[in-house]
Amino acid sequence: MRLAVYRKATFNAAHRLHNPTWSDEKNQKVFGLCNNPNFHGHNYQLELKVVGEVDPETGYVIDLKIVSDLIKELITDRFDHRNLNLDVKEFQHLNPTVENIAIVIYDLLRERFDPKYELQVRLYETPRNFVDYPA
Ligand code: NI
Repeated sequence: MRLAVYRKATFNAAHRLHNPTWSDEKNQKVFGLCNNPNFHGHNYQLELKVVGEVDPETGYVIDLKIVSDLIKELITDRFDHRNLNLDVKEFQHLNPTVENIAIVIYDLLRERFDPKYELQVRLYETPRNFVDYPA
């Protein structure tokens, strides 16, 4: 009786993709608009998948209120309306690509969920660009 439950959340954040070991020309060529020196924003959409057994006493895999509170505490309260490069310590030395943001989100959430649950983060940077972690 294993199944998946999902919780969605959104946050708006600014970022700049930049590799400090490269020239400005190479950064511009590789990252394009996302290399804009003055940053730019995205409306990120997060979907957290939680896989587990249905508890026979509650009928729940997990109480989604608990999931929603953890996403708020660990992710949206820290990322929403922030500059990821400047305001979020995890990205001070990590390029805030959608890939790296998804990995950071997964690691932050993973620490706080019982190991009996399997987690997967799906993160949309735009309606057409998104990643899953773990794949
Ligand atoms: Ni961007």
